[in-house]
Amino acid sequence: MTSKDPREAADFIRSRFDRPISTAVVLGSGLGAFADEIEDAVRIPYEEIPGFARSTVEGHAGQLVLGSLDGVNVAVQQGRFHFYEGYEMEQVIFPTRTFASLGAKNLILTNAAGSLNTDMKPGSLMVITDHLNCMGVNPLRGKNDDSFGPRFPDMTEVYDREFQQFVEEEAAAITTKGADFYLGRGVYCGLSGPTYETPAEIRMYRLLGADAVGMSTVPEAIAARHAGLRVLGISCITNLGAGLSGEIIHHAEVMETGDRVKGVFRELLRRVIGRIGS
Ligand code: HPA
Repeated sequence: MTSKDPREAADFIRSRFDRPISTAVVLGSGLGAFADEIEDAVRIPYEEIPGFARSTVEGHAGQLVLGSLDGVNVAVQQGRFHFYEGYEMEQVIFPTRTFASLGAKNLILTNAAGSLNTDMKPGSLMVITDHLNCMGVNPLRGKNDDSFGPRFPDMTEVYDREFQQFVEEEAAAITTKGADFYLGRGVYCGLSGPTYETPAEIRMYRLLGADAVGMSTVPEAIAARHAGLRVLGISCITNLGAGLSGEIIHHAEVMETGDRVKGVFRELLRRVIGRIGS
């Protein structure tokens, strides 16, 4: 458990970067290269930020990158804290609350995910339309901090419809310019991990209405909506769900696919951030 206050983390970050931040971005496994796009970057390792835990998973740098992208100030989380690493949910959502304390209005969550839909092959991107919280816990459990949001927050529209449309329009524009990738839409099912699923579990999540499965995003999306941020979620499909391809799932494959789509992913994210604006 951390006894730190996200406002202290925000004050510390402001002491290093004093421009207002409207949009924060969380980069998922294999997608960290996007942070190289940031101009005039100020990089702060998580261990220096009061209250932040450390990211232990391979493929996550573990730093906050602040700077601008085509004139829009952004805070980019290069690596996140996963529940499967053993962190308390409070630690998992601490950066989200820090962004809210910094005055951010928008949060873009990205992740690597397994596809339950064989049309959405590895290398596809999926705009998240909704989620299933199958992590076994809600990150807002416990005493409510009324200064962030209400005790019983509404979750009818976690993923902002206008932001979803920005992604679809910008993906279409990139495709017209010759990039070849598939953009799906669907429901992301958040699981605790760290195991990948069994084929029976994949069949179950499909029946429950999931289009993709992963081990992140849901806690941050819930905390962000609690605090009134507008949320966009994009999954990078790195593999088909267990049992759907006849092959076993490796973390290396997850990382490689992230690397393969990074050109398109960067371009899409940059354009969408521009559309969201400041
Ligand atoms: N399952 C859960 N999480 C994942 C997967 C998967 O198949 N691929 C990438 N993250």
